[in-house]
Amino acid sequence: MSITLRQKQLVQSSFNKVVPIAEKAADIFYKKLFEYAPEVKPLFKGNLKEQGKKLMTMLGMAVKGLDDLNKLVPVLQRLADNHVQYGVKAEHFTPVGNALLYTLRVGLGDDFTHETRQAWVDTFRIVASTMKEHAFKATVA
Ligand code: HEM
Repeated sequence: MSITLRQKQLVQSSFNKVVPIAEKAADIFYKKLFEYAPEVKPLFKGNLKEQGKKLMTMLGMAVKGLDDLNKLVPVLQRLADNHVQYGVKAEHFTPVGNALLYTLRVGLGDDFTHETRQAWVDTFRIVASTMKEHAFKATVA
């Protein structure tokens, strides 16, 4: 599974536009996530600001890692092990991915074109399936 150079550029440039509105983006993201999957709320122990930083770390990692997917794999495997400890389940990746797409749509407005959206969908799929295959024993597409 891979993404094109153009998709990588779209994800990276749209990520840079979300950075200045990180706190607002985090607010939108967690509200939406807890609406889609209220059962995950107790897994998050930090306050909103800390969670906002985590969201940006999470996105930033995926974005940076796109430069070298092979190097990203061990990092994602460790991250997946952490997530098992947090109580995360394989089925939580879908609401997280959907909340992320919603946040990008609201945060980027007209800049969130169909092509940019697809680039994020493919990126999230790579990250999520790498994590799930390692630690969640899930069969992934
Ligand atoms: C694209 C996949 C994901 C990435 C890249 C990601 C990334 C991260 C990062 C970087 C952290 C900071 C702590 C650490 O490094 O272990 C974190 C924490 C966390 N993540 Fe994720 N995550 C992903 C998916 C998910 C999913 C599907 C859930 C399920 C709800 C989730 C729930 C959490 C929780 C509960 C914490 C700890 C927060 C706290 O203690 O307040 N993550 N994640």
